[in-house]
Amino acid sequence: MEQYVIKGGHPLVGEVEIGGAKNAALAILAAAIMTDETVRIDNLPDVNDVNVMLDAIAGIGGMVHRIDRHTVQINGKKIHDISIEYDYIKKIRASYYLLGALLGKYRHAEVALPGGCNIGSRPIDQHLKGFRALGADVDIEHGKIIAEADRLRGKHIYFDVVTVGATINVMMAATMAEGLTIMENVAKEPHVVDVANFLNSMGANIRGAGTDVIKIRGVQRLHSTEYSVIPDQIEAGTFMFAAAATRGDVTVLNVIPKHLEATVAKLVEIGCEVEEFDDAVRVVSKGGLKSTHVKTLPYPGFPTDMQPQIGVTLALCSGTSTITESIFENRFKYLDELARMGANIKIEGNSATIEGVRRFSATRVSAPDLRAGAALCIAGLATDGITIVDDILYIQRGYERFEEKLRGIGGIIEKVSTEREIQKFKLKVS
Ligand code: UD1
Repeated sequence: MEQYVIKGGHPLVGEVEIGGAKNAALAILAAAIMTDETVRIDNLPDVNDVNVMLDAIAGIGGMVHRIDRHTVQINGKKIHDISIEYDYIKKIRASYYLLGALLGKYRHAEVALPGGCNIGSRPIDQHLKGFRALGADVDIEHGKIIAEADRLRGKHIYFDVVTVGATINVMMAATMAEGLTIMENVAKEPHVVDVANFLNSMGANIRGAGTDVIKIRGVQRLHSTEYSVIPDQIEAGTFMFAAAATRGDVTVLNVIPKHLEATVAKLVEIGCEVEEFDDAVRVVSKGGLKSTHVKTLPYPGFPTDMQPQIGVTLALCSGTSTITESIFENRFKYLDELARMGANIKIEGNSATIEGVRRFSATRVSAPDLRAGAALCIAGLATDGITIVDDILYIQRGYERFEEKLRGIGGIIEKVSTEREIQKFKLKVS
């Protein structure tokens, strides 16, 4: 098992290049199999989740040709299997996007039912409701979702909750349904828009992505395209909070500042200086940061995927902050780890009250999930002494060369896998 070992306590300073958005990439890769022609996708992040999705596509007969680390060609012509096994779903829930893609293209898809995960129970009722509305029979048998339809017909669908996953999954199936689908109360996240743009570049007719209502006029066939994935707003935000927590000065490059508005607003509220450029954002933190209140909400609200990163930062701000997590029920586990580093936190239901402390004290902590893992690294970078973060497999699912990028802005962090390597690191930095 690999760990990060970190010697923190000094500001991060410099520029960091942000990669393609993992969550957009996962859905775009699934959608790429919907044509028999070859699709080229660029600006893919080279992270474990993306690689599992590519394996799942190859596993059902899709041609996957990795041109370089960030570019892939996919051809879905020779797909011979419409069944996605639990092995893939277990590793990445997002392989359920193949349900919408296969159902749209072949009118039949079978995907192992995803269970809960570390951040909550995560139902998929809205995905199934959408597929049923389009005319598919959807059953759950032997741990699999089986969706089948003679014909898919456009329909008016109203989602009961705002969900990114269901919005994208149903949008993919409706792309190849007959007639007009109107989806209301949809998610407006940048990656919903990116998937719609990608499908449109393949010949789909999707309007309204990024608003509450998406209208899809079904088409019979999709064609080849070349497409570049949008920058990852969560990766960018993670480095921005790393700058804030370490009292640093970091510029994130290759970002869309509009996608970072909620993050920027909170950084300014706590006392950081933020400068926006066309495709870069600079965060300067001179210390003296103050508390604030934050509630996670669907886009354009404050992202749940940024909640642990702001949580760590607030734990070092003076005064009392509150965090309300309104999207996932189990996303405060990292606060227990943070308390072990000396943070002063009280959790009640989906709210956490944080009394800021002047400093954390370094120790060994475990990453409970992807974003929380990254947040604990930020905590380590902001703390004098040596912090060890275990279970970094979670972090590698969604951050490309995380430690390298941190080293590029002055972070002292290494990936290790033995106690000996930890001792060596300690000797080197002492
Ligand atoms: C996606 C992101 C994840 C992010 C989340 C919220 C991917 C691969 N993952 O997850 O990183 O944290 O959006 O921005 O893009 N819900 C239902 N029924 C459903 C579906 C969802 O009740 O059928 C609920 C969920 O339990 C949750 C809320 O809706 O409370 C939002 O979930 P959703 O937006 O679907 O998250 P994901 O797409 O799974």
